[in-house]
Amino acid sequence: MPLDAGLLGDLAGIVGPHHVIVDPAIRAGYEVDWTGRFRGRAGAVLRPGDLAETAAVVELCRQHGIGLVPQGGNTGLVGGGVPADAAYDVVVLSTRRISWIGDPDAVPGQVAVGAGTTLAELQRALGRAGAELGVDLASRDSATVGGMAATNAGGMRVMSHGTMRAQVTGIEVVLGDGRIVSQMRGLSKDTSGYDLSGLVVGSEGTLGVLTALRLKTIQLAERRAVAMIGVATIEAAVEIALGLSRDRDAGLRAAEVVRGATIERTCAARGTAPPYEGRHDWHLLVECAGNLDPLPAMARVLGDHAGLIGGSALAGEGRQLSEIWAHRERLTEVLARLGPPRKLDVSLPLAAMGAFVEGGAAALGRLVPGAEMHVFGHLLDGNLHLNVLGVPDDAGEAVDGALLRLTVDAGGSIGAEHGIGRAKRQWLHLVRPPDEIEVFRRVKQAFDPEGILNPGCLLPDPLPA
Ligand code: FAD
Ligand code: MLT
Ligand code: ZN
Repeated sequence: MPLDAGLLGDLAGIVGPHHVIVDPAIRAGYEVDWTGRFRGRAGAVLRPGDLAETAAVVELCRQHGIGLVPQGGNTGLVGGGVPADAAYDVVVLSTRRISWIGDPDAVPGQVAVGAGTTLAELQRALGRAGAELGVDLASRDSATVGGMAATNAGGMRVMSHGTMRAQVTGIEVVLGDGRIVSQMRGLSKDTSGYDLSGLVVGSEGTLGVLTALRLKTIQLAERRAVAMIGVATIEAAVEIALGLSRDRDAGLRAAEVVRGATIERTCAARGTAPPYEGRHDWHLLVECAGNLDPLPAMARVLGDHAGLIGGSALAGEGRQLSEIWAHRERLTEVLARLGPPRKLDVSLPLAAMGAFVEGGAAALGRLVPGAEMHVFGHLLDGNLHLNVLGVPDDAGEAVDGALLRLTVDAGGSIGAEHGIGRAKRQWLHLVRPPDEIEVFRRVKQAFDPEGILNPGCLLPDPLPA
């Protein structure tokens, strides 16, 4: 049933009538995810402007038993930021208006920021103060820091600075029972009990609505250099990347990998040439950064590995650097245009990646002959993104199941950095035993006793009694 007029009026009294969206045409953009694969219906989209409005909305929804789906930039890739199904008793709570950036110089090495601020907005503000965030994603123009914390996002620099969890030094959050937890003091040390922020980070909007964060910042790297390298095996890519990571002068901060067929397919779709001649089974993209020009050290280490390198392109700061990065950063968008693909985001032991890709491609060939398995990812994190094109809808679950089972058999995890969302909750049991899922449910019960926050996300449905 649509939300009743009295409740809509009360919600408008909290956030202002312009920020209660019921018009289906405007709501539509909030009801479908970035991939176009997940969609649902919301009784309204609510756009609170601050902590007090967010807390009042959560409390009112709690009293009326209305589900709330927190949404930031809606760039998530597992369907967690949109309503689960056609139920009208769910609203989307968009945080985009909660956008502000505190003084980057107020506490050295930290910044306070509203949860609805986009990563790009934060990067620009920090850049002016000679700082940056340790996490960077290609979705930076839309992804919000609240969404990034809620998914414990990773991206290109995890190998040097960790995931989003490692950047968070404080949170302000409205829990499902309406309580506000605010830990925004910016203390470097605090062992006074349970780490609530560690639980909320990565909880995909199922425990609380983040309204503000305190994040670590790092010194802006003054000089950067990139190289893209064609190699025959993923093991060779690992060896070169590890060589760079061990060299003190190189300052390796990103090591990305892309399968050869994926570069060929996406370059053709973009109407652009691959970065160098020849066909290579894998491409490694590395970025080094520091206060001195990292290019000479990078070139020296690559020279030491010349026997493994089939082709390469190197660049310091400038247009060529962006063009090399575009071969990696534009993959998601280009593959989305060619698909939508079945998207899986897995992590594996480094030594297992090569055999896993071979086994996955063979299993896929048996299930859906002719389907294409595109692969790219964050190499030294052991994080591969599988994007499978050409899978009919009725074979999708079988393909996901086969690839996720292979992942677990190889000692990996079914969710590396995108979360579980709606896409993978039925597969959670592959990596979390029943006892752990039961502990998850108890944590959920403690933070959100009425289960109003993001129903149908992350946790599998309980088994029938
Ligand atoms: P949304 O999509 O709006 O929401 C994601 C989840 O967080 C949902 O479960 C939602 O309910 C919850 N949520 C959102 N805001 C809040 C809040 N304030 N409080 C509580 N819960 C909240 N991800 C990576 O990890 N690494 C990458 O390299 C990467 N690259 C990407 C590149 C592209 C081109 C695209 C489209 C996506 C990419 N992503 C990547 C995925 C995505 O950008 C991240 O998951 C990002 O963290 C989502 O942020 P968002 O603001 O868009 O969140
Ligand atoms: C990336 O690394 O580019 C992202 O996580 C997005 C994706 O997997 O498509
Ligand atoms: Zn990624």
